[in-house]
Amino acid sequence: MKRALVVYDTTYGNTEKLAREIAAGIDENENVESTVLNIRELDLVDMSTYDGVLFGCPIHFFRATRGIKGSVKKLAKKGLDGKLVGAFETYQSDRHEGNAVEQIEDMVRDKAPGAKIFTPGLTSVVIDSKGPLGTNELEHGRTFGELFARELAS
Ligand SMILES: Cc1cc2nc3c(=O)[nH]c(=O)nc-3n(C[C@H](O)[C@H](O)[C@H](O)COP(=O)(O)O)c2cc1C
Repeated sequence: MKRALVVYDTTYGNTEKLAREIAAGIDENENVESTVLNIRELDLVDMSTYDGVLFGCPIHFFRATRGIKGSVKKLAKKGLDGKLVGAFETYQSDRHEGNAVEQIEDMVRDKAPGAKIFTPGLTSVVIDSKGPLGTNELEHGRTFGELFARELAS
């Protein structure tokens, strides 16, 4: 059995909802099981028990949130080398500027050069700054999770 960790940052709950749907997609693969954690829940995480990690956050001021960047650093210290690592982001429909996925991927390359980046990352729209997620975004999240699990299990 492979294990995947889904780490999210959120202000209004949309990115958490997406993270949970991604995890549901991962769990559809009988060879992979997922755990979902908020960025504030990482202190006791034992990275040796995970084979892959997905990091997700809302785009804030064109960039990944400080919280998710701190999480990449924290888990890279605990050990991301050799693991499959990917990213997802949410953005506001009428404000779409910037990129969090790319920034997270760059950070992983920098802090954990031995990690394997899972691409492409997932970009999901929210209709207003507080949500809801756009039509079909949860479905896309589930598919993203399924694809991540497939690569992890192969
Ligand atoms: C402080 C702040 C800055 C934001 N900056 C951007 C931005 O630069 N580009 C963008 O597309 N959306 C921006 N947004 C909208 C967020 O991406 C949107 O609120 C988020 O995707 C909702 O996810 P959440 O419910 O998980 O917080 C910003 C929102 C906040 C609160």
